[in-house]
Amino acid sequence: MGRAIGIDLGTTYSAVAVLRPSGEPEILPNRDGEEITPSVVLFQNFDGRDEPLVGTMAKHSAPSAPDDVVQFVKRNMGDAAWRFDSSGGQTYTAEEVSAIILKRLKEDAELALGEPVTDAVITVPAYFDDARRVATKQAGKIAGLNVLRVLNEPTAAALSFGLDASEEGVVLVFDLGGGTFDVTLMRITNGEFDVIGTDGDRNLGGFDFDNRFMEYLAQQVREQGGPDLMDDHVQLAALREKAEIAKRSLTTVATTNVHISVDGRPFRVQAARKEFERITADLLRRTEDLADLVLEEAGVTWSQLDHVLLVGGSTRMPMVRELVERRAGRPANRRIHPDQAVALGAAVQAAIEESASTGSQIEVFEGKPLVVSDVTSQALGVVTVEDDRVTKINTTVIPRNSKIPAKHSQDLQTVRDQQTALHVEVTQGDDPNPDFVVVVGEKTLPIPAYPAGAPIRVTYAYDIDQVVFVEVLDLTSGKSLGTFEVDRAANMNDRQLEAAAARVAVLPVQ
Ligand SMILES: Nc1ncnc2c1ncn2[C@@H]1O[C@H](COP(=O)(O)OP(=O)(O)OP(=O)(O)O)[C@@H](O)[C@H]1O
Ligand SMILES: [Mg+2]
Repeated sequence: MGRAIGIDLGTTYSAVAVLRPSGEPEILPNRDGEEITPSVVLFQNFDGRDEPLVGTMAKHSAPSAPDDVVQFVKRNMGDAAWRFDSSGGQTYTAEEVSAIILKRLKEDAELALGEPVTDAVITVPAYFDDARRVATKQAGKIAGLNVLRVLNEPTAAALSFGLDASEEGVVLVFDLGGGTFDVTLMRITNGEFDVIGTDGDRNLGGFDFDNRFMEYLAQQVREQGGPDLMDDHVQLAALREKAEIAKRSLTTVATTNVHISVDGRPFRVQAARKEFERITADLLRRTEDLADLVLEEAGVTWSQLDHVLLVGGSTRMPMVRELVERRAGRPANRRIHPDQAVALGAAVQAAIEESASTGSQIEVFEGKPLVVSDVTSQALGVVTVEDDRVTKINTTVIPRNSKIPAKHSQDLQTVRDQQTALHVEVTQGDDPNPDFVVVVGEKTLPIPAYPAGAPIRVTYAYDIDQVVFVEVLDLTSGKSLGTFEVDRAANMNDRQLEAAAARVAVLPVQ
């Protein structure tokens, strides 16, 4: 096996790290010497062949070639209907676009390390559901990586933080990135990382703050007699870039000027941080509400927190730091790097996985092994039919915030003589109404033919990656009938996966 790396596959930026022999994780720079790589793909076409370009150059191309650039693809992971059509006439799934990014990250890591990389731990937002986790693993596979684990981003960040033995206690990880928000409460004691609770919003990040700013800028241009920039997708791509840059400026200055040129006509919009904070106040409030909820559920108050970790580029916005520090009544930790902590923690986990499989010892925590215990961010449910044989209800079998891996068994009886199949439908979400939860998948399980009433035990489980599987036990014979992956409507099947891997393997990714 080659080297195992940790990959933070972000909505807007990705980072890669590896554990040094000294036991310290370090960021691996990309081929351009940058420590983070924009998760952006420009689909160039030469002589009828797609040549995807990943990173900063691709990001810079977004305003001039919006139809050839894919950004924020992480938001589309697990959406089976999403496609990108390149101008070269090729069609790509979200998993494939993510795989193109991963392939570039892998090749850059190989360049930096001077040896092949085969294995990786890839991080995901804690709030990602089964479909999105499976899609992420599949993207890794398509990129030619053996995905050792998918690890929750806040847990990874805490892992890099807690390597310093002096950092113990109750820790709140507040992770506001480019596309997602996660809030995770955990306890770190003596090398043990114990997640108590987690919540989040997988559609809340810098992207949404940019959207608000874009609307604001467009309105100001309209008020100055200009056209509606929101109507034109080429203008929109340019506006997105301007808005993001202006947003970042407002992190350090109180007022900034945004210069927008429309068909050669110049417009100047003056934007103040106060105004930006006003138009995004509800987004910030949502992060606060989710943090309150996690603490409340765990019975922990803000003042009981020993450490607050701000992770993700969007926590650089002064209003975020102010909010968290005001609520906690203490300064947030300054040692944690908002862009790197997740990748560094993933590298630690990659080394842990590597040493577990090779039997070698790694000593990262003063010679003691690290123990990481995480929880599920989504309740697992099963759909059953009521006695009226019509009404379907969703019953939670593994509640949210359960320790993973987690299992729940149900003893059922066959209803017909010679019944040879049992149908199960697995969901994620808390609502008893199946219409308000996400169907993970279903499976028709083969069972031996017995007279009606034969007992069968079905075990629903979350594996360590919080991916759902089902085990079936024939209680008549006492034999296991096997472990089954549910058939997921939202994900690629094995055949599609193989085809995608073959396709991406020959793509010249730069
Ligand atoms: N100085 C800054 N001020 C305000 N926002 C910033 C600043 N620097 C970066 N950001 C924002 O942070 C976001 C990127 O953060 P990060 O790289 O942590 O996200 P990500 O890992 O790509 O996303 P996610 O974790 O949600 O998948 C972008 O929206 C960017 O605009
Ligand atoms: Mg991130």
